[in-house]
Amino acid sequence: MEFPKDFIWGVASSAYQIEGSYKSEGKGLSVWDTYTHEQGNISDLETGDIACDNYRLLDKDVEIMSALKIQAYRFSVSWPRILPEGYGKINEKGLDHYDRLVDKLLEKNITPYITLFHWDFPYELYLKGGWLNRDVAKYFAEYVNIVVNRLSDRVKYWITENEPQCYIGAALQDGNHAPGLSLGKKDIFLAAHHSLLAHGHAVTAIRGAAKQPPVIGYAPASWYLWSPISDDPADIEACRAKTFAAGEDPIGATSWWLDPVCLGKYPDTSMYQYKEYLPKVTDYDMKIISQPIDFIGMNVYQTYRGKADGQGQCVTVKEEPGYAHTDAGWSVTPEALYWGPKFYEARYHKKLYITENGISNQDWVCLDGNIHDYQRIDFLHRYLLQLHRAISEGIPVEGYFHWTLTDNFEWATGYSNRFGIVYIDFINQDRIIKDSGVWYRRVIESNGGTLLSGSDGF
Ligand code: FCB
Repeated sequence: MEFPKDFIWGVASSAYQIEGSYKSEGKGLSVWDTYTHEQGNISDLETGDIACDNYRLLDKDVEIMSALKIQAYRFSVSWPRILPEGYGKINEKGLDHYDRLVDKLLEKNITPYITLFHWDFPYELYLKGGWLNRDVAKYFAEYVNIVVNRLSDRVKYWITENEPQCYIGAALQDGNHAPGLSLGKKDIFLAAHHSLLAHGHAVTAIRGAAKQPPVIGYAPASWYLWSPISDDPADIEACRAKTFAAGEDPIGATSWWLDPVCLGKYPDTSMYQYKEYLPKVTDYDMKIISQPIDFIGMNVYQTYRGKADGQGQCVTVKEEPGYAHTDAGWSVTPEALYWGPKFYEARYHKKLYITENGISNQDWVCLDGNIHDYQRIDFLHRYLLQLHRAISEGIPVEGYFHWTLTDNFEWATGYSNRFGIVYIDFINQDRIIKDSGVWYRRVIESNGGTLLSGSDGF
């Protein structure tokens, strides 16, 4: 069996990681712009000032996508490019840019999927209290309204926010993402609540402004995912329960973000466990947060492996010495794309997209001028077979967005991690399609057929 006939094969990116032109044409600064310029935050003081220069080279990048037969492109709009101060004054040139991008994509038959916020928070709003300021949720809706008004005659698919675990947890609690704070629990839960409110207001803003029926999603990180090491129902149940438990690290947990949005409440046990730190949660707020959405975007890279102990609790199984891992140190665990969608569907009953999945690899230009990234091909092949297994069992996964098209600025690790199916020479901005890019094109052209026949040709 092939993949479903309308299955979407795409690639994903985000504004700060690729655009560059960080001060051009009226753009305001984001917290990533200021953070990367401070000594000691990113090694070698690497920044996204230029990145892949995609703001200027967008035609080229769309041409590459077209050559690779990419069907859909998930990209993010930079909030401070549209509203340099986060609200109020609009930067028309910023809007013109995304207008051009959307037109160019459509000209090449590539469907745009727009992420409205992928971490490049306006610096001016940070000075006004950032996510601790409840008004930020309203400012976000103002920005969303402007973007949707401008682009929704041509754009149907919207993702409100990407991975709040990072821009709240990693950024405000763990201090290793911009703006690099280490706030206490009370502040973190408050900021998280405001981020959820921002999501909810954004959903309402999209539905209010859209010029065609919108399809709306939300894409938290799927870090906490446990996959059973056997088919024993006890192992499966233990892993499922652990995947949604939000006890040890609630802000990192999936359910902290998805339960309020999809089930209208915070996870019960955590509510109890963290009671003294939580803000007052009103029915009014929960109503805003749980506005209906159409799909969940899953960003999945790896899974823990687990089994049940005698009491049905999940025990994490340690990887064997020398286990397969990517250049970022993430484990190669393809069943993440089987168990992840299965567990999410069972809990939330929503359509799913894999909005991110990929591998950082030690890629370089070989003597013959090509990039032979066989590990990426093998990784993808294994993961996509597992995704196919989930779909064959009826799990409603509508599409797969590979992270990412071009190598780019990988946040805290700068340019040291290469995630693209297209190689970037960051000195002269040359692009070279890697072997995995050619391979992915064949997967797309055969709607996954080459995966299943095992004849990938490499
Ligand atoms: C995800 C981010 C994305 C990229 C990948 C590798 O957590 O959403 O921007 O950095 O990891």
